[in-house]
Amino acid sequence: MKLWGGRFEKATDKTVDDFNSSIRFDQRMYRQDILGSIAHVNMLGKCSIIPMQDAEIIKNTLQDILNDIEAGKITFEIDAEDIHMNIEKILISRIGNIGKKLHTGRSRNDQVALDIRMYLKEEIKVLIKMLCQLEEALLSLSEKHLDTILPGYTHLQKAQPITLAHHMMAYFQMFKRDIERLQDCYKRTNIMPLGSGALAGTTYPLDRKMVASQLDFDYITYNSLDAVSDRDFAIELLSCLSMVMMHLSRFCEELIIWSSHEFSFVEMDDAFSTGSSIMPQKKNPDVAELIRGKTGRVYGDLMGLLTTMKALPLAYNKDMQEDKEAIFDAVDTVRLCLPVFTSMIETMKIHKENMYKGAQGGFTNATDVADYLVKKGLPFREAHEVVGKMVLYCIQHNKSLDALTLEEYKQCSVIFEQDVFKAISLQQCVADRNLDGGPSKEAVLTSINIGQTFIEKSKSLL
Ligand code: ARG
Repeated sequence: MKLWGGRFEKATDKTVDDFNSSIRFDQRMYRQDILGSIAHVNMLGKCSIIPMQDAEIIKNTLQDILNDIEAGKITFEIDAEDIHMNIEKILISRIGNIGKKLHTGRSRNDQVALDIRMYLKEEIKVLIKMLCQLEEALLSLSEKHLDTILPGYTHLQKAQPITLAHHMMAYFQMFKRDIERLQDCYKRTNIMPLGSGALAGTTYPLDRKMVASQLDFDYITYNSLDAVSDRDFAIELLSCLSMVMMHLSRFCEELIIWSSHEFSFVEMDDAFSTGSSIMPQKKNPDVAELIRGKTGRVYGDLMGLLTTMKALPLAYNKDMQEDKEAIFDAVDTVRLCLPVFTSMIETMKIHKENMYKGAQGGFTNATDVADYLVKKGLPFREAHEVVGKMVLYCIQHNKSLDALTLEEYKQCSVIFEQDVFKAISLQQCVADRNLDGGPSKEAVLTSINIGQTFIEKSKSLL
């Protein structure tokens, strides 16, 4: 018989049992469900809503059930629908009538909202920790490559020389924003919904704040209808995670390009590459490709949940049971991707010489030739045109800007002197971009320092 079977004359059709049941995927919230119930029953006892001795018995039995689940001694039943009713059923089977008092003043609607919030609070912390580890890997790569010059691109065309440290710190900034977004999302997850009942609260004098403080929630919800039908925090998390994956996918794409034979800027460690079943020479960046690929499923999870929630009338609707698979899938996927990505970049080989060669081609110092003229008094637009013509001349004569003779320079503009060669060396081009946020060694060191402080602080909040 179902826990809610009182008003029914017939058993549920078998297909409906299977269809309705969420135990297959929500059983992973067993710990949150039991801890939530323990806090609830503690409060019921303390507020004399049920006798204190009964509360004690329920609490101890719930603790036993938790231990038994963790020891693998319990199998859940499809018929009992979800994790909430499975646990309540086991409780009742062990202590009979006393167990039937647990659900006083509570509904599965506020219970499931509580469980998801508890589950996600823990997951957000794990995700932030993993992002901090990735950030630390980026900081240490950057410290090692403050002088490693490579071409920066726009439109995937060589643009201006930068350093590998500067490039890595660009990703540092993206993941820093991801951490900040998760910290912010945590605030809206950290709100305790129990006491909202099915939708309209309850007539029992529950002490909601007592439950919140036992479960380490900083706030309680202030509208029972909203509290049971709100999944904003989950959608927010999926959006944060989509952004993390978007950043990872951009990074992966660059690493895939960089490890192509044409670039040969980096080489993934053997432990993070795979071969081909037919082509013996192949070493493929599968890990990076798979992370790039998995980005799609996390976006899918976000779109799926947004669409599930679209136009749902207040308050709880069964549609909302669909939230869990999307949430779990996205969290699992990001938890899978982050550590493997971090280890991959920590172990990859960096071919500095190829990066430098890459920066030498493609007239990456053309802007600096123009800036040279500007510093000697020519208006920028005129300097731009002079250098544009020089580039054309170089292309026609198959030369680079720094391979031109001083005579050739002077034919383009009389302003040029011998010192132009130093001014347009790649090292100088980078060193001269010495403003906050720029690629010079000093500027990157400043952002590394600011970054380190941020990571230390974020770790201390966990
Ligand atoms: N398994 C349900 C879910 O995940 C729990 C809440 C069910 N509430 C209800 N009134 N049917 O949403």
